[in-house]
Amino acid sequence: MNEVDLRVSKIKDGTVIDHISGGYALDVVKILGITCKEKRVITIAINVHSKNFGTKDIVKIEGRALNSDEVNRIALVAPHASINIIRNYAVVEKLEVKLPKTIGGIVKCVNPVCITNSDEPIVSNFSVESVEPLILKCHYCGYMLEKSDVLSQM
Ligand code: CTP
Ligand code: ZN
Repeated sequence: MNEVDLRVSKIKDGTVIDHISGGYALDVVKILGITCKEKRVITIAINVHSKNFGTKDIVKIEGRALNSDEVNRIALVAPHASINIIRNYAVVEKLEVKLPKTIGGIVKCVNPVCITNSDEPIVSNFSVESVEPLILKCHYCGYMLEKSDVLSQM
């Protein structure tokens, strides 16, 4: 068993979000809308040793799989994360998160006078200008959103 496995035990069923850049686990929790008030066991490891990345964070959510929408959201704050679906202690699926070149709908433009914030129902659309640190450019008004702008609306 490696150091991390000794520190954080394996789970029976659920989802393990691994290889989150060190220090970003709470962003992942926030972007998933997890309030921690649900009666669900969640284990969070922050800044643990990683063979390949120096330090990494891990979030383990018991008894729950993630849908594709949630996987895509994670890519906004943890573009290098891997998602492991666990059933009966075994990793039955491994998903790599991937940030698409454009993001439609999930995030709102911060510019109050942007056309996407008017009464007309226009779905937001952003191009990903930078992955880490995250910068999204509004297709309609050119406003540049940072990760903090994205997190504050989740
Ligand atoms: N894990 C867990 N509970 C299980 C099985 C696995 O919490 N029942 C966790 C492991 O601790 C690890 C992640 O899920 O953080 C992926 O498990 P595994 O594929 O076995 O580990 P690695 O081979 O190290 O994964 P990778 O190749 O993605 O680095
Ligand atoms: Zn805009």
